[in-house]
Amino acid sequence: MKKFVKLAALAAAAVMGASSLAGCGSDDTLVMGTNAAFPPFEYTTTNGLVDEFDGIDVAIAKKIAESMGKQLTIEDMEFDGLVASVSTGKVDMAVAGMTVTPERLENVDFSDPYYVATQVMVVAADDDTITKAEDLKNGKKVGVVLGYTGDTIVTETLQIPEENIVRANRGIDVVQDVKNGKLDAVVLDSATGKALAENNGLKVVEDPEVFESEEYAIAVQKGNTELLDQINEVLSEMTANGEIEALAEKYDGAAAE
Ligand code: ARG
Repeated sequence: MKKFVKLAALAAAAVMGASSLAGCGSDDTLVMGTNAAFPPFEYTTTNGLVDEFDGIDVAIAKKIAESMGKQLTIEDMEFDGLVASVSTGKVDMAVAGMTVTPERLENVDFSDPYYVATQVMVVAADDDTITKAEDLKNGKKVGVVLGYTGDTIVTETLQIPEENIVRANRGIDVVQDVKNGKLDAVVLDSATGKALAENNGLKVVEDPEVFESEEYAIAVQKGNTELLDQINEVLSEMTANGEIEALAEKYDGAAAE
């Protein structure tokens, strides 16, 4: 899958273990902050009584913790609060399909990118009125998730009037509103949008001219180069040995409600 960024140059040299004691937080745990409503990157599976976390990001984070000889702990929270949680040290890192943006870079540092995504529009299967992003400006009711890059694009780039925007806390909520006819479209990240569209009998419309490519990376507290270096080593090794691609295949379409 070419969406995964090749970190080829660094990859061959990546040997884990040298800095196995790097990192912050307590001695034996590494705390990952995320918002587990973003399949296939992070989602909860209800196995037994306790919700368990799974997905591409969860698997990557486990590897990072393992490389440091630590136990991974997951703090599930609203996406909108993640950057603050990282910058105040409440969590060690945010692994959340998080797009690198100039605004976020003011508050946190980002690892090397590990995935390239874009925004897509999720619309009814029989919709023929939305074929490009500009069509959303024709009085369409548009759903987004609060604080996602899709929210910024709909609000600032496309300048959809506020009264036509519905902001939810989870992608599935607004996608269901497209299904039941309350909304005309949802603007959401490509992999998640495709998975949710497929599982709800909806379709995806792309518009690469307006929706540019976005890079997902892991956020750490500003200046925490020790943890950042460790993360980058693991990412480059997982890229080099094909593990990240294998995860993408394994989780393709996973757990989309
Ligand atoms: N890539 C988008 C952003 O950075 C959405 C990420 C949503 N991730 C999540 N775990 N809910 O804004």
